[in-house]
Formats: sequence, C-alpha cells, structure tokens
Amino acid sequence: MLRSIGLWLAISGTTCQIITDHTCADADTNRSRSFPPRGLAPPAVAQWFREALPPRWSGRPLDSTARERQLARWSAAEYMAARKKGEVSCEEYVSSLVKRAKHYREMNQFMNWDNDPHWTERVLDHARRLDAQAAQQGIDTLAPLYGLPLPMKGTMATKEFISSAGSGVLHHRRAREDAEFVKLVVSKHGIVFGKTNVPDFAASLLTCNYANGCTLNPHAPLLTSGGSSGGAGSAVASYLAPVAVSEDTGGSTRSPAFSNGIFGYDPTRGHYPNAGNPGMSLILDQLGLNARSLKDLVALDGALCDYDPSSVPEKKIQDLRIGVPIYPFVEAYVPSGGDNPWGFAEYPTAWVPSREILAKYEAAKVALRAAGAQVVEKEWPSEEGTNVLAKAFFPDEDGREAVSPYYHSFGTFSGQVAQWIHDYLGADDVSIADVIAHARSAGLGHTPGRFMELELDETKFSFILQELRLAGQAAWNRLFDQEDLDLILVPGFLHVPTYDCVASSTCEHQVKNLTSGEIRSSAEFSSLHQIFMHSLSMKHIPLPKMMIPAGLDASQHPVGLQMMGRAGPKGTVGLGYSYDAEALKTVAWDRKGSSGGL
Ligand SMILES: *[C@@H]1O[C@H](CO)[C@@H](O)[C@H](O)[C@H]1NC(C)=O
Ligand SMILES: *[C@@H]1O[C@H](CO)[C@@H](O)[C@H](O)[C@H]1NC(C)=O
Repeated sequence: MLRSIGLWLAISGTTCQIITDHTCADADTNRSRSFPPRGLAPPAVAQWFREALPPRWSGRPLDSTARERQLARWSAAEYMAARKKGEVSCEEYVSSLVKRAKHYREMNQFMNWDNDPHWTERVLDHARRLDAQAAQQGIDTLAPLYGLPLPMKGTMATKEFISSAGSGVLHHRRAREDAEFVKLVVSKHGIVFGKTNVPDFAASLLTCNYANGCTLNPHAPLLTSGGSSGGAGSAVASYLAPVAVSEDTGGSTRSPAFSNGIFGYDPTRGHYPNAGNPGMSLILDQLGLNARSLKDLVALDGALCDYDPSSVPEKKIQDLRIGVPIYPFVEAYVPSGGDNPWGFAEYPTAWVPSREILAKYEAAKVALRAAGAQVVEKEWPSEEGTNVLAKAFFPDEDGREAVSPYYHSFGTFSGQVAQWIHDYLGADDVSIADVIAHARSAGLGHTPGRFMELELDETKFSFILQELRLAGQAAWNRLFDQEDLDLILVPGFLHVPTYDCVASSTCEHQVKNLTSGEIRSSAEFSSLHQIFMHSLSMKHIPLPKMMIPAGLDASQHPVGLQMMGRAGPKGTVGLGYSYDAEALKTVAWDRKGSSGGL
C-alpha cells in the first residue's frame, strides 16, 4: 500500500495530492501550519500550539450586509418558518452561510478545502433545486426541513462529499452509498452542508488530523473545539449553521458543545439511525446534534422523528424534580479495587471539577430553586458500604481479570472501521494498519491510533453486553425511581481544555482527599481525565444526555453543565425499550406530560 502511494507521488511530481508523510504535508504550508510537526516531545507540542494557533485565528473581519448578518443569526426554526412563508429562498440562506464558511475556512470547521475546494457549489445546487421544486410543486413539498443546511459529521459516509473520516490515507475517497442519517435528512428536504472536521475516525477529543488541520474555537485561539465532533461544534458556534450533526461514543457530542458554549444532544442509543457512520464501539456510538438553542433541537428532532414539536407537552418548572448527586460527578472516583482502565482517580482520592465549573453548577442549582424547581440532594443508595452505582460501573478486579465497558467495548473499533471502509468506500486497498499508521499523534492527549489497537475478547464483550449493561442500568435507575426524578443535573466536565494543556497533560482541576477533606487545584490532567466520568462512564447504558451551555468563566471560556435522564421510560425494567426503533423515535416524552426518560 505505502509503496504504491510512493509510486503515485513519484509520477505526480510536486503536486503532492496525497499527504502520506511529513515532507509531503510540509509542502502545503497552510495545512502543515495547523497540525504539529512530527517527533516533538509533549512540552514542545504544547509550545507549538501556543505559537502557531493565535496567528491562524486572527483573520480579517467578514464583509457582510445587514441581511447576511440577520440570516446567520437565525435559528433553524426561524429559517424554516421564513422559508415556508416565502420570506427567504433556500439559495439566499445557503449562500449567506457558505460565504461565512469560506471566510472562516482557516479555522477548519469543514474538511477538504484543499482537494475539493468547490464542495460548497454542490450545496448551493441542492438549494437551487429545492427552490425550483417549491416554485413548481408548492412550498409544502419542502416540508418539514424546507432546505435547512445541515453539516454532517466528517465520519459519515456521503456520496457527494469526500468521506475520509479524517484519515490522511482516505483523504480523496468518496462513499458509494450515503449513511442512513444522510438519507433521512435528504428525504425530509434538508441539505447536506458538507463534512465537518474530525480526528482520525473520531478517536480523540482534539479535532485535529494532519490532512485537514486542527479545528479552532471561535471563543479563543488556544481553546480546543472539543472532539471528536469539533468541526460541528465550531461551525455552530461560529454561526456557519444553526445546527450540525455530531456523534458521541464517550463524549464526542458533549465535548464540542461544552467547549464551544452550545447545546449537545446525545440521545438514547438507537434514537437516530447510525448505519454508515463507522463509530468506535458497537454499543456506545450514537449520532446526535449540536445546536445554539434547545428550541432548534426539538424542531429538528420532530422533523427527523415524525412528530409535531408543538405537540410535546411542557412540564412546569415547579413540577420538575432534579437530582444533584455528589457521586460520581462532583466527587469523581473509581472505588478502591474497582476496575480503572484509564487511570482515573481512585478512592480515597477524588477528582472535583475546577472551581469555575463548580461555581456555575452551584449557581444553576440556586437559579433552579429560585424558579421553583425541586432540587433533590440525594445520592445513589449504598449496599455493604458501597454506592450501588460505583459497584455496577466499576466491577471489582478481585480474584479475576476485570471486564470494563470503557475499555473492552472499544475492541469492536478496528472491525467497524474495516467494515465501513469496505462496505461504504469499497477501498479494499486500504488496511487497518494503513489507517493506524496515518493517525498521527499530537502530544499526550491526541493518539487516535491507540484505540484501534485494542483487541476484542469476545467473552469479555459478551459479559459487557449481557451483564454489565443490565446491572449498570438497574443501578442507574435506582436514584431516579427512589426519588421520582425527572432528570439529574451534573457539572459538564472536570476542566476547560486548551490545545497546549491537553498536549502536555497540564490541564487544571481540583483534587480532594476524601479522608482529610483537603482540596487543592492541580494542573496535571489531559483529555480522558476531563471526560471519563462525565461522559464515558454511563455510555454503555442507553439513556438521554444533554450538554447545556452555562455561560463563560472568568477567562471568557465557555463552560457547560449536563442533564441526564432515566434509562428507559418510567416504570420500564431491562433494556427491551432500546431495541424498538419506532418507539425510540418518540418516547423522548409522553403525552401525559410526565418525563419519559428518553
Ligand atoms: C493560505 O493561507 C493564507 C494566509 O492565511 C491565505 O491567504 C491563503 O488563501 C491560504 N491558501 C490556501 C490554499 O488555503
Ligand atoms: C489524605 O489524608 C490522610 C489523613 O490526613 C493522610 O493520611 C493521607 O496521606 C492523605 N492522602 C494523600 C494522598 O495525601
């Protein structure tokens, strides 16, 4: 494989279209300037980010008309209503967003600006076709999305747009079939608005790959845009689109939402069709949405899942019961002797969110109480001295080898990647070894090749599927059922990640000694530390989660909080609900106005 690319390069001379190595990437100065060079030690990668990103961020201001600025600020719901009334055409709206996307291209929200620079023309063509259809057959034929442009996550298979999943070795490949979700959006008269940047096959919380560069965050040059749906998060926060499609395996919808100060909806697994998005783990992957407003999430969800958003009953805030458990999200640790595959804090040491994130969390509780919500300060019950959730999530390693939903479920990753490359790209000349070889690391927090090397032990995977998910779900629902909770509110993550602190593992949050009660800040953390407990630890259970923006901290960096629901509608026991694709579309709420939990 590598030899044939070398030959191809020799023939094609200096044009260097396939970026196979360091020398080649450096030939394109723009892209090499946005991904760290090879061979640097972690502190040097951090230094590189500090020097390279601020100049890339300081672009010239966009020259736009008042009308273009108005269109950019519209919510998806506002656009759809205006298009329906004929106050805007699909072409006018899409043109204004395309203009912004092109202007901010150096921020790398989208992929393939180098080898498919005219991809936006195809987006505009689609908009014109829908306008023509409306003119001939009536505006109602564009329902329910009315030509809404929706950026797709860069991992998804698309026939019309390059489908590289962020891997340099696939940088020119197109899919022969669209992902199911893409088909769904097109069938609802939405427009595929290109492909947003991702790390190689979504395997990092930094949205960086050497073929497309790193995605910048509109709030500050050194803030990461989160990952792996960082292109989606930055596109929405940069007003390139009101909503974008994301996917979450262990936090990839919620991390970009947190970092970009927007909403991230990670629904119950199965809520949106996942086929055609390779994902990382068969039981953890789920497509979701990043959006600037809750209203847009409901509008889109209704359009995609065939219900009328205005028919969703609203529950009065005075009737909401919101749990705020301390364990495992405020004092986060793996119980002593519990399975701890990623080196998280272990009892009696707890990791605690940074002071600023905690301050937002406390302020949210105060605001909810003031608005009349019932804030329930209760913990998951303990049995034999151990919190039941801790016991179910981190099985004891005592006496036998540990089986971990957070480690062994990634054993399906390389198989999923290989299958996707074969089924959707038909690229049988590219092997997993090629993909891993091309997944370059960028400091301690960005090593996308690593996950693909985890091997699948079928016995362990069966144990996760059949035992750990059910045990986890039963434990998770105990707090909800015992306290009759509608949802729980927890801090978003532990710290705010910047490119340089993730690269050198110097991100800061608090550490608590649970024996002495002493608490101090410590700057020794990186990406998996940030999110492990808050977005990966419950991911093997099908339940709904939402990252909610909570404003800016003292450094003007966005901070988010998470709401999570019960696993399955009230009263259900077991995972049966998670296999009913039709029911999963609408059980997000029920008609009686009580929270359904999905
Ligand atoms: C490279 O970057 C410069 C400066 O940011 C910009 O003017 C130029 O258009 C870029 N070239 C390409 C091919 O993206
Ligand atoms: C935590 O506090 C206890 C009691 O003061 C002390 O014995 C222990 O060494 C402390 N642990 C750490 C890791 O500092």
